[in-house]
Amino acid sequence: MKMFFNFNQYKRTSAIAHLYGVSLAATMIAKKRGLDPELASMAAMLHDLHAYKTGSYDDHTHKGAELARRILGKLELTDETETDMICSAIYHHDDKLVTDDPMDEVLKDADVIHHCMSDVSKDIKEKEQERYYKLCQEFGM
Ligand SMILES: [Fe+2]
Ligand SMILES: [Fe+2]
Repeated sequence: MKMFFNFNQYKRTSAIAHLYGVSLAATMIAKKRGLDPELASMAAMLHDLHAYKTGSYDDHTHKGAELARRILGKLELTDETETDMICSAIYHHDDKLVTDDPMDEVLKDADVIHHCMSDVSKDIKEKEQERYYKLCQEFGM
């Protein structure tokens, strides 16, 4: 796939697993909180694409939101409000220490859940631990 051309096979597999894992977690969290699970899933599937496309995480949230807007524009599956919601979630998904809009929070939490429970390729950051602890309380885990 062209989007992953900067990645070796291990990184590709890990990237795809992350997107699917975050997507599943986002779907469940959105449903639990009364938000649209489909939009949450779409945001999750797109959230790190800029990093995968370029091979760099520098400003990948803001650039990723722009990339997602271009992709969503071509797909024509979402209206303007839905596109804005997805792009906002991607834009804010690294701001783990602040609280943003409810859908933004779904993506942040889903990212943290996958990272803490399944993705051992990176160290868990302190700001993720705090969110993960709160999620465990919310979901009775
Ligand atoms: Fe990210
Ligand atoms: Fe991520």
